[in-house]
Formats: sequence, C-alpha cells, structure tokens
Amino acid sequence: MGVRSVDRDAVRGRIEELRELINHHNYRYYVLDTPEISDDEYDKLMRELGQLEEKHPHLITPESPTQRVGAAPVETFGVVEHGEPMLSLGNAFSSEELLAWHKRISGLLGDEHFDLVAELKMDGLAVALTYEGGRLVTGATRGDGFRGEDITQNLRTIRSIPLAVPKSAPRMFEVRGEVYLSKEGFKRLNEERAKAGQPLFANPRNAAAGSVRQLDSRITAMRPLDIYIYGLGRVEGERPPTHWETLEYLKSLGFKVNPSNSLFSDLGEVEDYYQRWVEEREHLPFEADGVVVKVNRFELQERLGVVGREPRWATAYKFPATQATTRLLDIGVSVGRTGTLNPYAILEPVQVGGVTLKRAALHNEDDIRRKDIRIGDMVIVQRAGEVIPEVVAPVASLRTGKEKFFVMPPRCPVCGADVVRPEGEAMARCTSVSCPAQVHELVKHFVSRGAMDIEGIGEKQANALLEADLIKDVGDLYSLQKDKLIGMERMAEKSVSNLLAAIEESKDRSLSRVIFALGIRHVGAETAEILAKHFGSMDRLSRATEEELTAVPTIGPKIAESIVAFFKQASNRKVIDKLRRAGVRLEAEVAEPTELPLSGEEFVVTGKLEAFPRSEAEARIKGLGGSTGSSVTKKTTFLVVGADPGSKLDRARELGIRVLNEEEFLRLLREGEK
Ligand code: IVH
Repeated sequence: MGVRSVDRDAVRGRIEELRELINHHNYRYYVLDTPEISDDEYDKLMRELGQLEEKHPHLITPESPTQRVGAAPVETFGVVEHGEPMLSLGNAFSSEELLAWHKRISGLLGDEHFDLVAELKMDGLAVALTYEGGRLVTGATRGDGFRGEDITQNLRTIRSIPLAVPKSAPRMFEVRGEVYLSKEGFKRLNEERAKAGQPLFANPRNAAAGSVRQLDSRITAMRPLDIYIYGLGRVEGERPPTHWETLEYLKSLGFKVNPSNSLFSDLGEVEDYYQRWVEEREHLPFEADGVVVKVNRFELQERLGVVGREPRWATAYKFPATQATTRLLDIGVSVGRTGTLNPYAILEPVQVGGVTLKRAALHNEDDIRRKDIRIGDMVIVQRAGEVIPEVVAPVASLRTGKEKFFVMPPRCPVCGADVVRPEGEAMARCTSVSCPAQVHELVKHFVSRGAMDIEGIGEKQANALLEADLIKDVGDLYSLQKDKLIGMERMAEKSVSNLLAAIEESKDRSLSRVIFALGIRHVGAETAEILAKHFGSMDRLSRATEEELTAVPTIGPKIAESIVAFFKQASNRKVIDKLRRAGVRLEAEVAEPTELPLSGEEFVVTGKLEAFPRSEAEARIKGLGGSTGSSVTKKTTFLVVGADPGSKLDRARELGIRVLNEEEFLRLLREGEK
C-alpha cells in the first residue's frame, strides 16, 4: 500500500469521524435540545468537514451534514405515492363531543378497556419521510392523502430530520410528522419580511407551509423549521404492538418526538391533559390547535378501522379557536386620551373562541400598510388569551378588486383639528388642546403641580367641571363663576372661594410653566424653560419657525415640528387668547432675547470645520443670539476659520477683526450654551 493511499484512508476516516461527531451533536442540539458543546466548537467541526470535502469532493455523500443547505431550484415538485394513505382526523369541540367519541368506540370494542395516547396537535403541515437502507430517500407533503408532492430537497434542510438512521432500523420504513415553525421563528421571519417590504405570513402554519413548498430549497434552508414525528407509515417488517411503544421506538432511531405526549388509561386523564394545555398553550414555543387522542393498541385500531378518510381510533380535541376569517367592513379611527389616532377594524361579526368579535385593533397606519390590509378585504382576525383582538392579515386571494386603501383622516374625527404625524413616529395625533377626547388628560396636566399648580382641582374636580360643561378647555378655567360652581357636588361656598383664589393665583406662574402646562407634545418642563428663556414671550414662541426653533440648543427637529404644529392650530391659539384675556402672564420675567450670550455679535464662518457643517455652526450662533454673515465687513465681530480659509482671513486681519480657530469657537459655543 503506497503512502498516498494511506493518506487517502486517513482522510476518509477523519471525514467519517467528523460526520459521526457532527450528527451526534446535531441530534443533541436539534432533537434533544440538550447540546453538549458550544456553537463555536460545533462550527469548528463543520468547518473542518467542509474543508476536507472541498478538497476531496468525490467523498461527499448526500447524508453528509454539510448537505443541508439546499439544492438548485426546481421547476415543479414531483409526485409521491404514499405507501399507506395519510388520513385526516375527526374533531371534538367540547368535552361532550369527546365523551361521545369515546362511548362510540367503547361500544364498538365491546366495552373492553383500552389505553389512550394524548398528543399536542401541532399546527403545521403533515409530511411523510421514507427511509431505505438507512437513508432518507423521500420526503413528501400529504397532498390529497394518497399522493403528495416530493419536497425531499426542502425537508433535508431541517436539522431535526435525520438524513441517516441506525443500521438496526428496518430496510424500508416511513414516518409521519408535523413540520412547524416556532412562534419565535415566525416572528423573526415576519420582521425580516417587513423590512424587505415582502408580504407577511398570517400565522406560523402558513409560514411553515410556504417555506416547505419553496421551489428553491436554499430559501427553505434559511427558515427555522422544525418537526415532531408522530407515527409510522408503511414498514417493511415488524412494528411494536402499540402506538406508545412506536413513539419510544422512533425516539430510539433518532427522531424528534414531542416530550409532552402522554399515555393514559382513562378519559378523565385525557380531559385533564387537555385542560392543562388550554391554559398553558400560550407559553408553548410553538402553536398547537388541540390534542390528538389515539387508541394505543394497533390491534384495536384495526378493529375500529377507518370511515372515509378519518380513522375511528383517533380524534382531534380542538382548543378554542384563536383565529377566524371575516370581512373588514370599514376602518374607524378613535382618538385616545393623549391625542393618538387609533385605527380599528369594523368587522362583519364573527365567532372566535366563543366570543363574537365586531371590532379589532389595527394598531397604526404603517401596520395596516405593512400587512396590506384593505377596506372590504376578507381578513384573519385573532383573539388569544388576554391580548386585544387584532387583524392579523388579509386573505389576498379572495380580493375582488373593489377593496379600498385606508388613509388616515387629515382632521381629528372628534374635534376636526389638524392631524400630524411627526417623522419617525408611528402614531398620528390630534394637535388641539381643546379636543374633547383629550381634554380630560389636558386639564389634569394643566392644573398639576409642575404646571399651573392649581390647588383644589384634582382628577375628580376636573372631570366634574367637564361633565357639567362648565369648561371645554383649560382656558375656560379662568372664566369660572362662583354661582355656577356652588351647588356642584362637594362645592360649598368656602371651597369655591378657595378654588377661585387658587385659579387667580395661578395667573402669575412663570412663562415656562404656562408653556409646559399647555401639554405640547415633546415639550417637557425642561424644554419649556429653555423656550421661555429664549423667546421671552408666548407671542414670540408662537411665531417661531422650525428653523428658528432648531437653532435653539437642545431643540431638535421633532420638538420644533410639534411646536409649530401646535401654534398653527386655530383652536390652540384660541385657548391661549383666553389665557391672555384672563390675565395669565405670557411674558418671561427677566430674560429677553436681546440678553443672550452672543447678542450683538456678528459671525462669519469660513473654511471647513471638523465638528459639524457650517450650517449647524451658524444655527448655533443664532441660537445664542448672535447673527451670521457671508462676507467680512466692518460690522463683523468674529471670523471663525476652519481648514483652508482663503481670502476672508486676510480681510479680517486687515480690519483687525477677532479670529477664532475651530477649537476656540467650540469653547465659545460651549460656554454660551451652558
Ligand atoms: S395523527 C390518523 N398526531 O393533524 C391520524 N396528527 O387533521 C393522522 N397533526 O394531517 C394524524 N399533530 O398534520 C397526528 N400529534 C399529531 C398531530 C397531527 C398535528 C396534524 C396532521 C394531520 C392533521 C389531522
């Protein structure tokens, strides 16, 4: 034997060793869910095997763990005849129906006692896997029960499906199971699809079915599919006498069998098992839509036989449904307490899990667009556990072409004010402080401690004033009359006087508090203070443009946009007028805009700055009260020079104007912005 062939044997030996190791760790990780080595160590083994196979391609076999990445796309799927028909299941929707099923078969079995196996009914799709000579040769869908589609290439990519089984396995046998996608995998997949602008899957089952029926198995390989095997199909040779032992046997061959399967000797235990899962299923990592109950002994199964496509020896005891399909009649918009416009679905009434649904959440405009939900669509609605019912997806295949796209109304459906949706935000909002939908919250905020601090008006009083129609907005607080207040619940002469005194006193709050009290979105107490200081009066603030606002340190475009939208709204200006007429102070006490640190200074910026573009430098100068020019004149007080300044520097020197380099300039800004 030459050296080369010894080498070759060594390579072959190492390849085999690696495959065995990797298969073992695959099994620990994907089937048993109890890995023994780290991902890094596993990757190292895979890499070594991949490199050896690359160097010796003739040693690659279809069973090699490297061969799970998908193969070239196909035009269509071939047809596979099932060795034994793939049956479906009858259903039981209540414990009475389960009992009826049990009674019927007990009768047929001459009241002989029989054990039952209860399994979770996975919500995925049924597949049949055929093994010959220890290797996976065919994987097929259920199809019509007799003939399915050949999706072998796709199923090979599922790590928990063994490509090879121990030598002790029958020469030919077929197993059946449910391919599924975990809830987590489904969520991730839809997130990726949303990002890529692709249509979303309605539920994990659709996602699993779509993934398994890909013509390009490389796409399937990227989907986190999994499988639970729940039975044997055709077998060449012996099979165990019971279903339970079959499941144990399948486990021993390396198949993934659901650990929650249970063997029971009476129906009461099955009922308990079912109840437990009704409560627990929310926490399962995958979706299950019921419990499959099966007669354990095959001999009894045979005696019971099959009617049509449904075996008498098994039934699906269904969980209360969480999804249903119905028509989306219209999309309504409600206004939340904080001014958000919330679209909701108006549905043709439909039963979901024992409750009639007429409405369901649609979250926001983007969500509607992402899911491509149109008015008039048939839609899948979902009601699960404690969660608010929601529209999950349209059934696009049922469209007639008459469906309409939803657009957010440009005016508030409650008060008619402008609706804005700031960039980067999911929710559209009503901009009016007198919107009846929001006024409760706004009044509460207006009178609160950090705002106008009007003692004597708490949540209850605010509600009472609104309900008695004594106020419609916060401006009305200042025209409250004693005689109207007396006689209201818990409003004696004394408390009315106190209340009016507190209102009167609040007229002297600082401008920053008044600005804050208005409840302008994104304007908190701190921002209100900065605005008050910078603009000096409500009037000047109300006339500020977005540009002028963003020039103020710490005021970003989001805040600026919100302020401009607020003052644009006529109803808001009216409220401010009411405050003004009542004598609420709308001017700052001291700080006038002329007293800003750079007031009276004129800057020219030249050359390239490193810290930020020139436009920002200029905005910040203005923010500190300075002005900016484009050429150096006698009026210029500072020249800021970046890199490659050019002739302006010479001119400034000629005129004896102060020159600042970037570092000095930044220091000046920092000082001023303190
Ligand atoms: S046994 C004759 N066991 O439910 C029995 N089916 O409507 C055939 N399924 O097509 C199926 N989990 O896709 C069985 N533990 C389980 C199951 C299960 C899910 C699906 C399967 C089948 C359908 C029956």
